[in-house]
Amino acid sequence: MFGRKLSSILGQEPADAGHGARELPVLPLRNLVVFPNMMAPLAIGRPASIQAVDGAAIGDRLIAGIPQKDADNDDPRPDDLYDVGIVLKIVKMMKPPNGGMNLLVQGQRRVKILRYASTEPFLVAQTEPIVTVPGADAVEIEGRAQALKNIFKRVAELNNLLPAEAAGLALAVEDPEALVYVVASALNLSLDENVELLREAVLVKLFDRLQFFAQRELQRLEISSKIQSEIQREVGDQQREHFLREQLKAIHRELGEKDERQSEVEELRKRIDEANLPEEPRTVVEKELKRLSQMPAGMAEGSVIRSYVEWILDLPWTKRTEDQLDVAHAREILDADHYDLEKVKQRILETLAVRKLKPDARGPILCFVGPPGTGKTSLGKSIARALGRQFVRISLGGVRDEAEIRGHRRTYVGALPGRIIQGLKRAGSHNPVFMLDEVDKLGNDFRGDPSSALLEVLDPEQNNSFSDHYLEIPFDLSEVMWITTANVLQNVPAPLQDRMEVLELAGYTSEEKAEIAHRYLVPRELAANGLMPDQLTITDEAIRKVLSDYTREAGLRNLERAIAGLCRYVARERAEGRTDARIVTAADVEKILGARRFFAEVAERAGIPGVATGLAWTPAGGDILFIESAQMPGSKGLTITGQVGDVMKESAQAALTVVRSRTAALGIADDFFTKVDLHVHVPAGAIPKDGPSAGVAMVTSIVSLLTGKPVNPQTAMTGEITLRGKVLPVGGIKEKVLAARRAGIRRVVMPRLNAADLNEVPPNAREGLEFVLVDRIEEALDAVFREPGGAAAPGPEADQAKDRSRGRTRQRSQPAAARGR
Ligand SMILES: Nc1ncnc2c1ncn2[C@@H]1O[C@H](COP(=O)(O)OP(=O)(O)OP(=O)(O)O)[C@@H](O)[C@H]1O
Ligand SMILES: [Mg+2]
Repeated sequence: MFGRKLSSILGQEPADAGHGARELPVLPLRNLVVFPNMMAPLAIGRPASIQAVDGAAIGDRLIAGIPQKDADNDDPRPDDLYDVGIVLKIVKMMKPPNGGMNLLVQGQRRVKILRYASTEPFLVAQTEPIVTVPGADAVEIEGRAQALKNIFKRVAELNNLLPAEAAGLALAVEDPEALVYVVASALNLSLDENVELLREAVLVKLFDRLQFFAQRELQRLEISSKIQSEIQREVGDQQREHFLREQLKAIHRELGEKDERQSEVEELRKRIDEANLPEEPRTVVEKELKRLSQMPAGMAEGSVIRSYVEWILDLPWTKRTEDQLDVAHAREILDADHYDLEKVKQRILETLAVRKLKPDARGPILCFVGPPGTGKTSLGKSIARALGRQFVRISLGGVRDEAEIRGHRRTYVGALPGRIIQGLKRAGSHNPVFMLDEVDKLGNDFRGDPSSALLEVLDPEQNNSFSDHYLEIPFDLSEVMWITTANVLQNVPAPLQDRMEVLELAGYTSEEKAEIAHRYLVPRELAANGLMPDQLTITDEAIRKVLSDYTREAGLRNLERAIAGLCRYVARERAEGRTDARIVTAADVEKILGARRFFAEVAERAGIPGVATGLAWTPAGGDILFIESAQMPGSKGLTITGQVGDVMKESAQAALTVVRSRTAALGIADDFFTKVDLHVHVPAGAIPKDGPSAGVAMVTSIVSLLTGKPVNPQTAMTGEITLRGKVLPVGGIKEKVLAARRAGIRRVVMPRLNAADLNEVPPNAREGLEFVLVDRIEEALDAVFREPGGAAAPGPEADQAKDRSRGRTRQRSQPAAARGR
């Protein structure tokens, strides 16, 4: 027999009140106790049990249900059964087709087994009812019953295995004994505990035990419900999100809308189909899109994938512009944008011609080197225009991190491609003119060396598969035309220099600037300020005044700014009602631009004994610099000031020695130094200065001071000096010559060993300048006190000489346009 308690329900019929001992067939129960009044379904399989039931069915359908001690025993003998049990009434009996028997039974009364009457073919026992005695007065019993009900109510609330009405049923029971059976059936008790309850005849004791069991059950339920709610809280958040998302989807579906992610994926899919991507990016993008489509909307990683896919879609993998290879047309454009710069223009036109003959020829990597404002950037733009290509420019100034060139890996938060790839996206074609500005200001530190990444970019062997960390797919850069710019070639990493063709833009002379102003800057600024060409004329002297009094630079920036200032002023006048054609003269310039910023320092400062004009090289393109000496009573002191570096200080020491060792030849008292202290000063103290190239100027300054002869104000000098009086070569001749020119110098004294460098100076910049090449300091001293182009100027006549030379300068700088270039 397979007895299994599925549920206990309160029976409708009242318990059989029959008393007295009687003989009953025995049905051994496995793991099951049925209490009086309780109904229970039973499934029976054992032949002996079936026969016992059959036996009972013949009579009054009563059978003794006796729990067996070991549930696994298939043929229990009397000893294997407990000695207490319950009389069961067979309410229903069914024989299913597959054998065995299903019963519905109702508990009647508790019985004790006195002895077994027979054991074959089934057990029959002599039983005696267990009669319940109160054990206490009615009030006490009533109290106990109420207490049990209270506990049980809470058990029923917490135990969701119990049917919802169980508590209600129990509370409605009025008979205390019946209450005991209801509660006992509902509690989860062990077989031993159930048997113990069956056996107990005293009602108060039954309440005691049940009180205990119910309390225990309550505790168990409370603990488990606490654990339950903790787990739920943890799982809750995730599930809640998931749940809400599902709901949202359902809402979208209901409204006939697509969910956010789905429409995102569809939109990208459409773009991919239209993008005409090459094989490799296409497969990558498809894969990412698949990942994206499986991701719930609103997940942060989704937007990372999305922006990656968009980057790939936005890049010009196959888009290119057709080159415009008409040399004459290109020439026109280059000339229209820039004055002169012949060498660079020639180089571009050559490239173009070669490309026409051999379309797959590799273009050069050009590097424009020159001071600020000399047209490097704008020339790049113009080249792009001439070739019909897109133009992009990135500045490498201060780039220290390789990742800025090559991008961050996608695992980085907020990762992006490097500047090269960003530039190409902006260009929108994969063959733009790509300008890498300021390669000389590239940084280099622990974050990696950006120049090594640039090497790869510029290497024609490698750049057809440039790898950006973010993209992870190689990109072909081989059709890009690279142009780099630098102010100072020395600061460009050597391996980079090696890959590039250097073209120098050294800076412009005043005549060239005036020319550029008339032909390019003025028309451009007029247009930029909304003026018609006939509404404003800036006279030649006006430009010249701007050049001499408001700018001092190798390039054109300040000139451009000043002209823009003039144009704005006139535009305002027109806006205020002026209608005539305006002519801006030199006098207007001062009124419009304010007080002059620069003075003809040469004229003002030089011409006094003790002042010499040196020439300095600076990254901004060269400048003039004054060396002043003064003496005072004292003995053998030498002070050098003006924020000069160590090399320049030593240079001053050496200059003094050179002078002291030549006192006789120079006509200076040979003991002069025992009576004086010397002070050598290099003004413009805020600018650090260093280098040996002021040696000649220092000697000159000291000699001028000690002899009382002023240095010719239109003479400038450069050159290092040895103690033996030899003049050594120096760097930056071209820039120095241009600076001299700008400052109105007429004669340059320089080392003979630098003679070859003069070839690099544009002929028009050399024009009007006298070069004195010297080997020894004596030759230099001979030249610096002379009037340019004339005989030595004796001291007293210096003022006169100054005036004369200034006048001549003015004459020489008559309109450059007149030269008919
Ligand atoms: N030869 C020229 N003809 C006409 N305009 C010129 C010429 N050279 C320079 N310019 C103009 O001068 C201005 C400054 O030039 P640009 O900005 O190209 O200087 P840059 O050499 O790039 O300077 P930086 O080194 O400071 O970047 C531009 O407006 C440019 O058009
Ligand atoms: Mg520039």
